Formats: sequence, structure tokens, C-alpha cells
Amino acid sequence: MELLERAIIEKGEVLPGNVLKVGAFLNNQIDVKFLHELGKEIYEHFKDKGVNKILTVEASGIAMACLTALHFDCNVVFAKKNKTANVKGDVYSAECYSYTHNKTNTLIVPKEYLGESDKVLIIDDFLANGGAMNALIELVSQSGAKVIGLSAFIEKGFQKGGDDLRKQGYDLFSLAIIDEMKDGKIVFRK
Ligand code: G4P
Repeated sequence: MELLERAIIEKGEVLPGNVLKVGAFLNNQIDVKFLHELGKEIYEHFKDKGVNKILTVEASGIAMACLTALHFDCNVVFAKKNKTANVKGDVYSAECYSYTHNKTNTLIVPKEYLGESDKVLIIDDFLANGGAMNALIELVSQSGAKVIGLSAFIEKGFQKGGDDLRKQGYDLFSLAIIDEMKDGKIVFRK
């Protein structure tokens, strides 16, 4: 069994509404060594692709993006969630609808941190319907940079985000794909 799958079984908790609680190592308490180890798996997948920047979204994506970036020896840029519709300043911006929270955020990144010369790996903690990933892809597209690939720590395979992105041709590397969470039992995709 893969590293992350084992941690999910041992430390995760299935909550009502198909929500997986992984606060013990990912969302509240950060198991730094473990995330660094998982970051190595992402590095091994994308290491020959010339990644020079990692893009994520606040808040939970930041820790794992940073620990992964140590392997690539590159910087992390994170999009901020701006709650107001009016975004000011010299920024790229994209709308992001969250199915889990039933609300729309505007993701923003200052233009000075992403540009045409960048080869970007996009990382997020959870991939469900793909709202956040698609908004991050849109930010990269506005900047003229290139999306090298996408990586989610945990993909909820029973929601459509991941498979849609694969159909669009993106190299999506998820460390664990959950196809079912039923009666507290978690089924991983083989
Ligand atoms: P999507 O981007 O793929 O469409 O996913 P969705 O809107 O459903 O998820 C939005 C938020 O909910 C994200 O955090 C995501 O990390 C989180 N999330 C989704 N499913 C789960 C789950 O089963 N367990 C946990 N723990 N989180 C989940 P966010 O709102 O951006 O919050 P944060 O990054 O500031 O913590």
C-alpha cells in the first residue's frame, strides 16, 4: 500500500457528507517529515520536466507545496482568496467555486510572481470537483506561463474533477485516489 493511503487509513476519519478529516497530518497538524517524503514522490514523477515554480492556493496547499518545492529547489507562489468581487491592482484573477463550502472565491496572484518564462507545477491538498485546480490553471494561462502538470495529495475519485482534467490532457499525479467512502470504509483506486 502507498504511503499516503496507509496514513489515511490509520489517521484519517470519514465524516458525514463524504468529508475526509486528515487534520492529524495535513490540515491542522502538519507532519513535516511525512509531507517532505510525499513531496519526493511528486518530484520523482515530474523531475525531468523543467519545473521552476510551484503554484498552490492558501491555506492548506501551502505546507505541502513548500515541502515538495524543497525537492525541486524552486519557489512556491500561492494564490490568495479574495472574498470581494472587485479585485484591484496588478494581479491575475480567477473565480473558484467550492462545492464543499458552496461559495465562490476569487483567487488572485500578483503579476510579478508568474510570467512567460515559468514552467509551473500546480499542487493542492484535495481535488474534488476541480474548482480550485481549474482556477489555478486559469491564472497560469493569464500569465503566459506553461502548466507542466498537476498534483493532488488526495483526489476524491467519486467527484468529477480529476477525470475531467485527465480528459483535457493534463498530467495529473494524485498520491491517493479515493473512489468510495462508505460506512467509514475507504476504497482506493488501484
Ligand atoms: P474542488 O476545488 O476540487 O472543487 O474542491 P472543493 O471545492 O469541494 O473543496 C474546497 C475546499 O474543501 C478545499 O479547501 C479542499 O481542500 C477542501 N476539501 C474538499 N474535500 C475535503 C475533504 O474530504 N476533507 C477535507 N479535509 N477537506 C476537503 P479550502 O476551502 O480551500 O480550505 P483550506 O485550503 O483553506 O483549508
